[in-house]
Amino acid sequence: MDIRLDGRRAIVTGAASGIGAAIAQSLSESGALVFLTDRNAAGLKTVAESLAGPSAQAVVDFMDDDAGERVVAAAVEAFGGVDIVINCAGVLETAPFGEMTATLFDRIMKINVRGAYTVTLAAFPYLSRGSAVVNIASGNSVLASPGGSAYATSKGALVSMTRGIAADLSPMGIRVNCICPGPIETPLLESALADPEINAMIVNAVPAGRVGLASEIAAAATFLASDAASYMYGASINVDGGTTAVWSPAAPGTSPEE
Ligand SMILES: NC(=O)c1ccc[n+]([C@@H]2O[C@H](COP(=O)([O-])OP(=O)(O)OC[C@H]3O[C@@H](n4cnc5c(N)ncnc54)[C@H](O)[C@@H]3O)[C@@H](O)[C@H]2O)c1
Repeated sequence: MDIRLDGRRAIVTGAASGIGAAIAQSLSESGALVFLTDRNAAGLKTVAESLAGPSAQAVVDFMDDDAGERVVAAAVEAFGGVDIVINCAGVLETAPFGEMTATLFDRIMKINVRGAYTVTLAAFPYLSRGSAVVNIASGNSVLASPGGSAYATSKGALVSMTRGIAADLSPMGIRVNCICPGPIETPLLESALADPEINAMIVNAVPAGRVGLASEIAAAATFLASDAASYMYGASINVDGGTTAVWSPAAPGTSPEE
């Protein structure tokens, strides 16, 4: 399927790295004008320079209360409006439950949840019939892992947020959907994947037998952003090598006999 987004104006948060960078690349190849935002200025510049088509950018940190409004204001100034919002910025910060703090919880929720909510809220006045919002949640929204209680909370919230906002915007023909990626090879998972034991544990949990590529999430995001997904409203799609849907043998060493 040749997906075209010619002239559509897209905001991509978390665009300096990993999945966000791959989505920016894919939207640009499909003809969209891409507004990139991230807290990482150097990464943003590198990604912007690698894009096939026109782009603009702003360095914004979602720890700032007015970040969402600033992102949208800068995108509107650059392109005159917004048709697509991709909420991808996120952090995976973990701690065993006994070592969790309210401060860390607030930080994860502010970046992963409030960031996406406030960008969408600020973009709403510019969205119209045929516009699309895509939130990048996680398989951790349904399958939690140790130390990730706050992260899982934030990703579950993103799935519910997708449905909640879709309830209001669907009648206007504005489609709000989300993607739940499984383990994807990006800087977010770099240290875990570099440890052979953790790497094997992660791969063993994936029925497809490998971690995913950022481009595989970008393909789903580009589809959801396009008219090809014209009957998708409030959906949450798993792009995870089967991790959350298919039974897979337990990793060695996990049976009670061993
Ligand atoms: N990699 C995976 O296995 C995986 C799996 C499921 C979901 N996800 C989700 O996908 C999204 C992208 O992750 P990724 O794997 O590409 O990781 P990544 O670390 O490569 O990219 C995340 C980006 O978000 C930006 N960011 C973080 N905090 C920010 C803040 N306060 N303000 C502005 N920007 C900020 C980072 O600078 C970075 O560029 C995240 O929401 C993550 O939770 C990733």
